[in-house]
Amino acid sequence: MDKNIILSVSNLSKHYKYYKTLFDIKKNVVKAVDEVSFDIFKNEIFAVVGETGCGKSTLSKLLLGLTEKTSGEIYFKGEILDYGIKKKDFRKQIQILFQDPYSSLNPKKKIYKLISYQAVKNGIIKNRHKDRVDFSAEQLKKVGLPESTALDYPHMLSGGQRQRVGIARCLSVNPELLILDEPVSALDVSISAQILNLLMDLQKKNGISYIFITHDLKLVRHLADRVCVMFGGKIMEIAKTEDFFNSPMHPYSKTLLESMNYMSFTRRNL
Ligand SMILES: Nc1ncnc2c1ncn2[C@@H]1O[C@H](COP(=O)(O)OP(=O)(O)OP(=O)(O)O)[C@@H](O)[C@H]1O
Ligand SMILES: [Mg+2]
Repeated sequence: MDKNIILSVSNLSKHYKYYKTLFDIKKNVVKAVDEVSFDIFKNEIFAVVGETGCGKSTLSKLLLGLTEKTSGEIYFKGEILDYGIKKKDFRKQIQILFQDPYSSLNPKKKIYKLISYQAVKNGIIKNRHKDRVDFSAEQLKKVGLPESTALDYPHMLSGGQRQRVGIARCLSVNPELLILDEPVSALDVSISAQILNLLMDLQKKNGISYIFITHDLKLVRHLADRVCVMFGGKIMEIAKTEDFFNSPMHPYSKTLLESMNYMSFTRRNL
């Protein structure tokens, strides 16, 4: 296997069963993720785009072991990704940054507890107050926040600051893969630019791979190495960013790109 491949997904599916109406006898099946295969390379930014409900978040849940797969395989650095056996280790190596910085931090916990939780669980630091505060202060510095933030509660911070805490929490255990699920869509434009710059700096500095889930094709064009287009749980196309924007292969990719041009056209005319 290619040593540069960090994550390899083969024929992965997730089917949810649900009742469509209250009076249904048989359950319906929704194929949230349907037979997808792809590889993620070291240090790469792999963008996943597609309309709402196409399975992007379900895919990230599968990679994090937050939901059972229906079929298929996931390999992390050549090993089967099984959260049952090597739970702690894999959890540490694949982290996720959520979209909403307001609901992703427990409001009852001080920032240092949130940041140091995984480091304590993984035996990186001891479960002592001073160690946890010092460790968190160190992590906060890396994301451009003052050390004193360690003793604050989440409600004392702005959206952008909270997202920085979220990033510090993800990076505290030195992951090799970070999933960004719409990381800036809840923030205003200038703050989201700062957060994206920070994420890109950290990616270069730490040599992490990113799976970047977004609706914003302009960001994809600027930041991603490759683009993966999903539709109805399936992968329609995977291409290098440049190739994707210059000559999209799949009709759905063309439609996506046309909608982006349409958006900028209408904005210009406002
Ligand atoms: N727990 C669940 N039970 C039943 N169906 C589900 C469940 N979770 C997701 N789905 C369905 O699976 C499909 C994919 O959902 P998913 O959240 O992965 O989409 P998404 O691409 O992340 O959308 P968005 O861009 O809006 O975040 C949707 O049709 C959704 O209704
Ligand atoms: Mg989603």
